[in-house]
Amino acid sequence: MKSLVSPELEDYAARHTTPEPELLAELCAATQAGMALPQMQVGLVEGSFLKMLVALTSARRVVEIGMFTGYSALMMASALPPDGRLFTCDVDPEACAMARSFFARSPHGEKIEILMGPAKETLPRIPGPVDLVFIDADKTGYPHYYDLMVEKVRPGGLLVFDNMLWSGEVLNPADEETRALVATARRVQDDPRVENVLLTIRDGMLLARRL
Ligand SMILES: C[S@@+](CC[C@H](N)C(=O)[O-])C[C@H]1O[C@@H](n2cnc3c(N)ncnc32)[C@H](O)[C@@H]1O
Repeated sequence: MKSLVSPELEDYAARHTTPEPELLAELCAATQAGMALPQMQVGLVEGSFLKMLVALTSARRVVEIGMFTGYSALMMASALPPDGRLFTCDVDPEACAMARSFFARSPHGEKIEILMGPAKETLPRIPGPVDLVFIDADKTGYPHYYDLMVEKVRPGGLLVFDNMLWSGEVLNPADEETRALVATARRVQDDPRVENVLLTIRDGMLLARRL
């Protein structure tokens, strides 16, 4: 992933963000050491922004599509009330094993339920209404995930899509993944059920709020 802002500015932003809890710093180090694509992790700034969105929407039920080793899930779960629930989907058993081991050590881990298997199959099992959906899995699935989840989000709730600028590739879509991201942005833009803003945080975050 090509950084849209300079590494110096990313670092400055991180240094002016509430520090990472010790367990998340450890998860970050374990992911760097043990996983082939550690850069998939959202990191401190985006993770903290997701946590803030959960807090600002007073969310009690959150859905995540694309858990990986669990960084964004733990960040969001830490803003849920004790009886809040976060359902998170993934297909990778190795990433899931690492996520589970860190959830077990977190006071927020009990709020998290992992749904293993392709999200197209597991998402229909999650009953609505939900307060916030974070979409960060296979890019070609994004339009379908939007269609599956938009009606389950309560009015005032949020759908949040990651990687919506795709290192700038969206300006010249040349492959299936990029075309799916562009199609998702258009679908959201044309949908009267939501209002939306595309933010240039990290690799681009699209926020769609249910009306
Ligand atoms: C970018 S990573 C998610 C990063 C995570 N949000 C974090 O901050 O650590 C994308 C994840 O989506 C998962 N994934 C890919 N295709 C999927 C599918 N069809 N259903 C569910 N998960 C999928 C991958 O296994 C991978 O772990």
